[in-house]
Amino acid sequence: MSEKEIDKVTGTETTGHEWDGIRELNTPTPRWWLLTWLATIIFSVWYYAAYPTFPGMDGYLGWTSHKQLKSEQAEITARKAKYLNKFKSASLEEINSDRELLHFAKAGGAAFFKDNCATCHGSGGAGNVGYPNLNDDDWLWGGTLNDIYTTIKYGIRSGHDEARDSQMPAFGRDELLEKQEITDVVQHVLSLSGKAKANTSGAVIFAENCAACHGEDGKGGQDFGAPNLADEIWLYGSDVQAVTNSVTNARAGMMPTWEARLDDDTIKQLTVYVHSLGGGK
Ligand code: HEC
Ligand code: HEC
Repeated sequence: MSEKEIDKVTGTETTGHEWDGIRELNTPTPRWWLLTWLATIIFSVWYYAAYPTFPGMDGYLGWTSHKQLKSEQAEITARKAKYLNKFKSASLEEINSDRELLHFAKAGGAAFFKDNCATCHGSGGAGNVGYPNLNDDDWLWGGTLNDIYTTIKYGIRSGHDEARDSQMPAFGRDELLEKQEITDVVQHVLSLSGKAKANTSGAVIFAENCAACHGEDGKGGQDFGAPNLADEIWLYGSDVQAVTNSVTNARAGMMPTWEARLDDDTIKQLTVYVHSLGGGK
């Protein structure tokens, strides 16, 4: 150690190092800095003791992220059970008018829909040719909660005793109508939505052969799952060829029954979800 020396300009002690006449001052670290530094050391020692720092050793506080996860999961399960119990005993109308139950049912229903229904109806329920769009308020078999529940539970032409069932006759294939009569009635059908000119003979054929299911005005009949033919929504297509094909060979869309595959809670959640998609009555 070299002799201590006081710098004349600043009055501060020097370290004794000198380069080309420039001397290094021995300025002490500020007190606040030193205290902060000591505090972080004390904190780190405490932290080591309090929290699980070394493998296999829990801190004295007993906290671990595993324990926290477990308790949070238990809380979620308990909260779910609370809803599920309430949900089980609630009617579809009660679920639909209770904000919390509705939220629960819609979230569950959306997930079950992706798993079970999206293959045919599309992941958003928008449908496809032969598979109805579930987002609109055009319903083949009815759009009330109970209608939708029955459709999902028993299916359509599924073979289940309670299934929704009906069969449009194959007017061409079974020779119920002549070729010309089919041409005329197809024109009449297309005229209902303004896609063709009125056809008098077709209107008569329609009244005699089709109105029983599709209604006199062609606006459909939910007792038979007969589509509205007077709107812009078509299950099988609206061009002359598609409609002629519908009349000639008839259509018979099949939707499976879910009674055996999904439990009643799941069907209820799906019902509320489908009802909420936009067109629920
Ligand atoms: C194998 C294909 C298929 C699957 C899977 C399927 N559906 Fe359908 N669904 C159909 C067809 C086809 C129709 C229309 C039947 C008809 O033409 O009347 C239909 C009709 C419906 C209707 C009636 C629509 C109306 O306008 O009245 C509802 C509601 C419905 N499906 C809901 C569901 C739900 C919910 C699921 C899942 C649990 C599901 N579907 C799974 C094929 C399917
Ligand atoms: C026994 C009842 C019944 C009768 C009678 C009937 N239909 Fe239908 N029709 C249906 C049903 C049910 C469907 C829907 C089938 C399905 O969903 O797969 C349908 C579907 C159609 C479609 C397809 C609609 C679309 O959206 O793609 C057309 C077109 C049609 N019918 C025209 C006629 C005409 C024309 C007649 C008379 C010559 C007639 N139907 C008689 C029950 C009937």
